[in-house]
Amino acid sequence: MTKTIGILVGSLREGSYNKLVAQKFAELLPDGYEAKFIDFSDLPFYNEDLEVEGKVPESWTRFRQELQSVDGIYFFTPEYNRSVPGALKNALDVGSRPYGQSSWDGKPALIVSVSPGAISGFGANHHLRQSLVFLNMPTLQQPEAYIGNIANLLDANGEILTSTVDFFQLITTKYIEFFEKLKG
Ligand code: FNR
Repeated sequence: MTKTIGILVGSLREGSYNKLVAQKFAELLPDGYEAKFIDFSDLPFYNEDLEVEGKVPESWTRFRQELQSVDGIYFFTPEYNRSVPGALKNALDVGSRPYGQSSWDGKPALIVSVSPGAISGFGANHHLRQSLVFLNMPTLQQPEAYIGNIANLLDANGEILTSTVDFFQLITTKYIEFFEKLKG
């Protein structure tokens, strides 16, 4: 049966480098796997007062159902002020509730941080990793996926350089091995 990898892109902007990288990773999934991009741009900020019958935002319910429908999760995150963007943190929080019914639980994860800067989103990558520990998401440890200086990894047409795609392929292969050990 086909396995589905949910893809969350931490940047909401149209021309996002993270989105570009996520699209390439989606293409690299092997036979038997498919990608499903999961949008979280419409989620109201998490507020426990809304977690009662009749008040739960429709978008929270839709988002939770989409998470539940996938087998693994890829996160692509920019770094905002040495951490993850607020929209992505809000998505983590919305998906983690109602209490005891987290939609993230047990799903094998990959974290890729992408930045035009030299530090490669390290801070965001590790802050996200910290949340995934609590959310009980086993997360690929090696190879670490810090994609820095992203603007220099594109050719004149804006396509990702082959040598970089080769690195993405290595990460994909390692993630699929990891996923299959856990879920195969
Ligand atoms: C940034 N940026 C940034 N970059 C970085 O490497 N470390 C950082 O801490 C920050 N902080 C930061 C804060 C805010 C509010 C913004 C808007 C931006 C720059 C960031 O890496 C750059 O805008 C990327 O292009 C964002 O990723 P996308 O949108 O291209 O995927």
